Amino acid sequence: MTGFLELARQRRSVRSFDDNMPEKAILDQLKEFAETITNPYGVKVRFVFLDAKEHKLSSPVLTGEKIYVSAIVGKESHAEEGYGYSFEKLLMKAQELGLGNVWIGGTMPREKFEKASGLAENEVMPCVSPLGAPAKRMSVKETLMRKGVKADTRMSFEELFFEGDFSKPLTERFAKENGLYDDLEAVRIAPSAVNKQPWRIVIDGKKAHFYEKHDKGFLTPDYDLQKIDLGIALYHFESQMLSEMRAPKLSVEDPGINTPDGVDYVATYTF
Ligand SMILES: Cc1cc2nc3c(=O)[nH]c(=O)nc-3n(C[C@H](O)[C@H](O)[C@H](O)COP(=O)(O)O)c2cc1C
Repeated sequence: MTGFLELARQRRSVRSFDDNMPEKAILDQLKEFAETITNPYGVKVRFVFLDAKEHKLSSPVLTGEKIYVSAIVGKESHAEEGYGYSFEKLLMKAQELGLGNVWIGGTMPREKFEKASGLAENEVMPCVSPLGAPAKRMSVKETLMRKGVKADTRMSFEELFFEGDFSKPLTERFAKENGLYDDLEAVRIAPSAVNKQPWRIVIDGKKAHFYEKHDKGFLTPDYDLQKIDLGIALYHFESQMLSEMRAPKLSVEDPGINTPDGVDYVATYTF
């Protein structure tokens, strides 16, 4: 186990915080990092740090949080993939700095957050996250929430990943023999909305084709929440490859592989 995967394994959604404002020096470090974040799509993602008390912000699934970060993107092509990639990059950095966090795309008073973030006409703010030190114990509602979405489990390699096309499930053994285990595992353990794990990957030689398996209820008039999950998956895959000193390159060029119903091509990493 190397590099990014180690950090990804330590990650979990944090919904119970310790009631303290994070240290200013740590927050400043995160804010500085936020300014440097880019994604392979060249989509600009804007981050706004919000004091919960000042803006009277809260979420029904959270306790003890003092600060939020909201992420905003323009309505443009590939906005969701770029958004997922960039916001996950920020949240993984937050975790590295000791700040627990959780993607929140549904359980929040959306208008209040949008107003506090200064959302413009041509922009959307699909998700926000609290930032802070995790509480010593999870709140009862956090424990229930994790049970409800089976947050501690994930689908198997064979269900998520394929060899050549969708007719041949990819095994852990194949992944290990082909030096892809850590990279695929980094995707498998990623966060996703309602833990639906909509990412599917077809490995074809030195290419990893990423697909989205749509579930009902994730499309809004402005964006597809599950495509944001795909952006998160792309970030996890690329980050693990980079920590193995590989040089994955993203392209969007549908290889024309037959897809099951409700499964759409998203992007390819060549490594
Ligand atoms: C795009 C996105 C939106 C999410 N929205 C919410 C939300 O509104 N409320 C919430 O409590 N968790 C939300 N989550 C967190 C997921 O429920 C969580 O990642 C998943 O259950 C797996 O648990 P884990 O992150 O602890 O591994 C969201 C996650 C993602 C990626």
